[in-house]
Formats: sequence, C-alpha cells, structure tokens
Amino acid sequence: MSNILVTGASSGLGWALARLYAEPGVTLHLVARRSDRLKTLAPILVERGANPVLHEADVRDRSRMEALSREVLESSGPPDLILANAGVRGEEEGNDLRAMEAVLATNVLGVLNTVLPFLPSLKKEGRGRIAVVGSLAGYRGLPKAGAYCASKAALSAWTDAIRYEAEPFGVTVSLVNPGYVATEMTRRNSYPMPFLLKAPDAALRIRSGIDRGRARIEFPLPLVLLVRTLALLPPRLGDRLLRLLSAK
Ligand SMILES: NC(=O)c1ccc[n+]([C@@H]2O[C@H](COP(=O)([O-])OP(=O)(O)OC[C@H]3O[C@@H](n4cnc5c(N)ncnc54)[C@H](OP(=O)(O)O)[C@@H]3O)[C@@H](O)[C@H]2O)c1
Repeated sequence: MSNILVTGASSGLGWALARLYAEPGVTLHLVARRSDRLKTLAPILVERGANPVLHEADVRDRSRMEALSREVLESSGPPDLILANAGVRGEEEGNDLRAMEAVLATNVLGVLNTVLPFLPSLKKEGRGRIAVVGSLAGYRGLPKAGAYCASKAALSAWTDAIRYEAEPFGVTVSLVNPGYVATEMTRRNSYPMPFLLKAPDAALRIRSGIDRGRARIEFPLPLVLLVRTLALLPPRLGDRLLRLLSAK
C-alpha cells in the first residue's frame, strides 16, 4: 500500500495507525482538527521513510471533506486504504442533546463524509480498502453513552450496506470494533476498563485484520463474547446482567 488516508491521526488509535503504516514510499494523508498535533507526528513518520501530507479538517464539514478528497485524488490518486477512524465520545454525554448531536455528527456523518467522496474512484479503479472504526459499544446501548453506542451501531449497519455494494467492484470494507484502548478518549474514564490495550497493540490487530480482508475486526475476545451475549439476550435479561456486572 502506498497511499493511505487516516482520519483522527492527531492522537490515540489514529496516531498509532499512522506510525504503523509509515514505511518507505508510503504517502500518509493525515486528517484532524488539531494541526499542531499532526505537525508533531509528521517528523516521526518521515524518519520511518514515509511521506506525510497534513490536512487540517473537521470530518463533520461535508464541503471541506469533499475538497479534501479532491486534493488527495489530484495529488496521489485513489487511496489504497482509508482508515475512517476519527470519533468522539461525549464527555458525560448523559442525555444532553448538544453533546449527543456532536457525537452522532462526528462518528456517523464524519465517517460518511470521509468515505463517500472516494467511493466512485475506488469502484472505478476496482481496488482499495476501507476500514471504519466502530466499537464493541455498538452492540448494545450502554448507560450514559446512548449516542456513542447508537453512533457505533449506525456504523455497523452502514458498513454492512457499503460492503455489499462496494465489494463486487473489488473494494474491501472492514468494520473495526475495538474494546478498551488507552487513548485520550479513555484517559478520563474512572470506571474499570477490562482488557485495556495499548494503542500500538490495537493498531497491530487492526492491520492484521485489514491484511486478511476481514469484514469485522473485533478484539479482545473476552469482551467480544460478552457484548455479543448481551446483544443476544432478551433486553431486560441483558439489563440485569449489566447491572450485575456494574455492581461488581
Ligand atoms: N479508545 C477506546 O477505548 C476506543 C474503543 C473503541 C473504539 N474507539 C474508537 O476509536 C477511534 C479513535 O479514538 P481514540 O480512542 O484514538 O480517541 P482519541 O485519542 O480521542 O482520538 C480521536 C481522534 O479523532 C479526531 N477527531 C475527533 N473529532 C474530529 C472531527 N470533528 N474532525 C476531525 N477529527 C476529529 C481527533 O482529532 P482532533 O481533536 O485533532 O480533531 C483525534 O485524532 C474513535 O472512532 C473511537 O470511537 C476507541
């Protein structure tokens, strides 16, 4: 892969993914709002032989993202890999409508704004990979994170739809559902985060899943089994299990 786009590269998983994919001859298009952070990352990638191109952009801004896609297509052609990773988890989201709106706009529309402008060229070329970063939280609504869980559930459904549509054209689509990863997003969590992974370890798992063309890349296994079980249980039984687990 020689042309890769990563959104949310200014910290956490996106930063770790950019580092992991930084190899000689690879152009990395890095997207985030905090361009100072992208400027800090760039020399690290150059040291590894990669060619970083920085794009200060808000993924919620559709026209900016359309312009960005044109910049990328003109300078480097259709990406071999799009890592639609940028996301937020509203701080103590609760039921605050403004916070929830920001979460849904970033996590859902931000991913669509990232991927859709490239889709026609990827389909025309008959190649390319799209990896959408969802979450195991997309399997079931969790307390105080309704919009976050809903956003990731939406990505799960949307990724199924786009995979069905794009793969006959040779474009692979993966949904990445991580468990807990130590990043800025989880740093403020005061509750226990079982099987917490370091961002570089999570990035390795993601890359391995993408290389294998997996439709779903999910980890760690114990949490995957737990959320899948919760999703299968009758809703109120699921509530009881959740209450039991959070009391522990
Ligand atoms: N950490 C976890 O435990 C975990 C678990 C499952 C899934 N995830 C998912 O993994 C992805 C990365 O999260 P992370 O844990 O690495 O969190 P993070 O360290 O907070 O990074 C989030 C990244 O998204 C970018 N971003 C947020 N809003 C943006 C916007 N409107 N426009 C452009 N970029 C935006 C941020 O950049 P700027 O602020 O500079 O714009 C930052 O680079 C998210 O989709 C998250 O939901 C995380």
